[in-house]
Amino acid sequence: MIVGLKGKYFHAYFSETKMKLGFLLGCLGLFTFSRCSASERCDDWGVDTMKLIQVYDGEPARIKCPLFQDLLKHNYSTAHSAGLTLMWYWTGQGKDLEEPVNIRLPNNRITKDKETLWFRPAVLNDSGNYTCMLRNTTFCSRVAFPLEVLQKDANSCVSQAMKPEVVEFPLEHVVVLKCPDTDDFYPVNVTPAVSWYMNCNPGEFYERIPKGLNLTFIKVRPFYEGNYTCIVTYEDNGKLYNLTRTSEVKVIGPPEDEKPPSMTAPSDQVIYEFAAGEEMQLPCEVFFPFVKNSRMDVSWAVDGRNPEDSVDSKVSVTTSEVLQLGGAKTIKKNLIIKQITMEDLKRNYTCSARNSLGPVYRQAVVKEKAGTPRYITELACGLGATLFLVVCLIIVYHVYWLEMVLFYRAHFGTDETIGDGKEYDVYVSYARNAEEEEFVLVTLRGVLENDFGYKLCIFDRDSLPGGIITDETLRFITKSRRLLVVISPNYVLKGTQALLELKAGLENMASQGNIRIILVQYKAIKNTERVKELKLAQSVLSVIKWKGDKSKKPNSRFWKELHVAMPVKKISPATKYSNTCIELNTTQMSF
Ligand SMILES: *[C@@H]1O[C@H](CO)[C@@H](O)[C@H](O)[C@H]1NC(C)=O
Ligand SMILES: *[C@@H]1O[C@H](CO)[C@@H](O)[C@H](O)[C@H]1NC(C)=O
Ligand SMILES: *[C@@H]1O[C@H](CO)[C@@H](O)[C@H](O)[C@H]1NC(C)=O
Ligand SMILES: *[C@@H]1O[C@H](CO)[C@@H](O)[C@H](O)[C@H]1NC(C)=O
Ligand SMILES: *[C@@H]1O[C@H](CO)[C@@H](O)[C@H](O)[C@H]1NC(C)=O
Ligand SMILES: *[C@@H]1O[C@H](CO)[C@@H](O)[C@H](O)[C@H]1NC(C)=O
Ligand SMILES: *[C@@H]1O[C@H](CO)[C@@H](O)[C@H](O)[C@H]1NC(C)=O
Ligand SMILES: *[C@@H]1O[C@H](CO)[C@@H](O)[C@H](O)[C@H]1NC(C)=O
Repeated sequence: MIVGLKGKYFHAYFSETKMKLGFLLGCLGLFTFSRCSASERCDDWGVDTMKLIQVYDGEPARIKCPLFQDLLKHNYSTAHSAGLTLMWYWTGQGKDLEEPVNIRLPNNRITKDKETLWFRPAVLNDSGNYTCMLRNTTFCSRVAFPLEVLQKDANSCVSQAMKPEVVEFPLEHVVVLKCPDTDDFYPVNVTPAVSWYMNCNPGEFYERIPKGLNLTFIKVRPFYEGNYTCIVTYEDNGKLYNLTRTSEVKVIGPPEDEKPPSMTAPSDQVIYEFAAGEEMQLPCEVFFPFVKNSRMDVSWAVDGRNPEDSVDSKVSVTTSEVLQLGGAKTIKKNLIIKQITMEDLKRNYTCSARNSLGPVYRQAVVKEKAGTPRYITELACGLGATLFLVVCLIIVYHVYWLEMVLFYRAHFGTDETIGDGKEYDVYVSYARNAEEEEFVLVTLRGVLENDFGYKLCIFDRDSLPGGIITDETLRFITKSRRLLVVISPNYVLKGTQALLELKAGLENMASQGNIRIILVQYKAIKNTERVKELKLAQSVLSVIKWKGDKSKKPNSRFWKELHVAMPVKKISPATKYSNTCIELNTTQMSF
């Protein structure tokens, strides 16, 4: 590079120092002349693009020759006193020619001061590569760097192309953000106006106090991250100038939180189980707190060797990173081994992590998967069987509860008829109509008396002369343990007598509670509203429905329900064919 640039340099040198023109022309002719070749030799450091300087169009700017900063042992004063001179050249954008920087522009727009070149102000056309060269007759050194003059973006206080200076502030701390790079632009006795912006928004900053060039953060919080811009305005020779500076504030973990990494996986508590032939996946998850200028390494070791170096296509490692608050980071590395063998299960799998404060290691406990499927199947079978049994029991209970109640009553029930002072088990109230009469006198009576052994009290049609036997009816009802009401349309229509019986039964039930009512629906009634007593009874009692031929069978649901509703009574052969009150009544009638 140095050789390639020599021509350029020579040209520039030629155009700047016209005084030495004749001497140089002589040199060209006598190339072997030793003094001449010595002055032509210049240590060229090339274009240092890392030293890119960005400034805004219309704002004052300065560039400093980098030779004195890190390339040479000299500083400007020692170089100057050693008789070395500093010269500036530049190559404008889109130009090939290096030319001297014109420091004789009107208003002294560009001036040279020691190792600094000042632009008051810089304009777009100033963009280009700038070269500073330090030389005497025997020594020469030069370096170039780019200057970029930018225009601010529309409706913005900055340009997106400008790379802001990055500053790191520790969480919860008190810090001062100083508007950078403003000294020496204006005299020390001048106090410039400074306005502060966060992400180009002006105004109040909560917990951040602007005071001149300082923006004081009373407490650094994660959401104070952002681009802070200060615009410094000062007057010089009657002209106002702006300096725009931006700092990108990053919030980092405080120094007191700096620690070695912590490993959350593999865990000591977890045993990683795999069967041969399966794919093995071992996680390694490490949290790195923010540690300034620290490395963050995570790696797996399989029997001491890094699997990432392995050529075996069976083995792979996947990496993912999650940035956390304040510059902390979580790194995950999954070790994946396809189709593992029994040998693979016996290896030592260790994950290690390290930052500048120390390493952490943990071994993943790997075992052969054993018995798990059988255990799960057994558990599932057991649960299934229990569930099945419970369902069966529920079904059995619903289908056979009547039988169960009857069975219980037959074997363990206490006979409630003993000593209650009642004469009859049941008083049957029904519409005195041919059809119902046959149902009551033949069907009901047949089963209740003959099969169940109950004592019935039935007033038939003939034994009721005109419904005037009120007192007698009541007497018989109170002497009975149950009032059986046979509901049918006729019951409501015709039954003054029947309704009287029902009313008496209800009153008795309500007042003394020693009679219970059984509702047997022989035939459905369309509107029960007409009879308020029946409606009331139906709403509080369950109705046993007669379903015609289906109910005729002695083991039908109808009879079982009816039997359950009847009093508990131990049937003895002696009571089996007891009389009903019909005969009783008949005898009374014969008085
Ligand atoms: C330059 O260097 C000399 C000695 O190396 C030192 O005494 C002097 O203070 C320096 N000047 C500046 C401006 O840094
Ligand atoms: C400055 O130098 C760099 C590196 O040699 C080059 O890429 C760039 O185009 C130059 N810029 C100008 C404006 O000449
Ligand atoms: C910038 O350069 C262009 C072309 O080189 C020229 O036309 C223009 O006048 C220049 N502008 C200024 C402000 O010097
Ligand atoms: C030129 O500068 C170099 C480096 O400082 C020095 O060693 C040399 O003596 C100087 N040459 C002359 C002629 O002054
Ligand atoms: C700005 O902060 C610096 C210290 O960071 C301090 O020395 C200086 O006095 C402050 N300036 C103002 C105007 O507060
Ligand atoms: C700060 O500015 C840089 C460069 O313009 C940009 O990449 C970054 O996204 C900005 N940050 C915020 C928080 O706006
Ligand atoms: C300085 O900046 C302010 C606000 O950003 C702007 O209004 C003003 O025109 C600028 N002045 C100059 C001379 O660029
Ligand atoms: C597993 O390997 C690590 C390092 O790779 C070692 O520190 C550890 O002692 C080994 N464990 C066993 C049980 O061999």
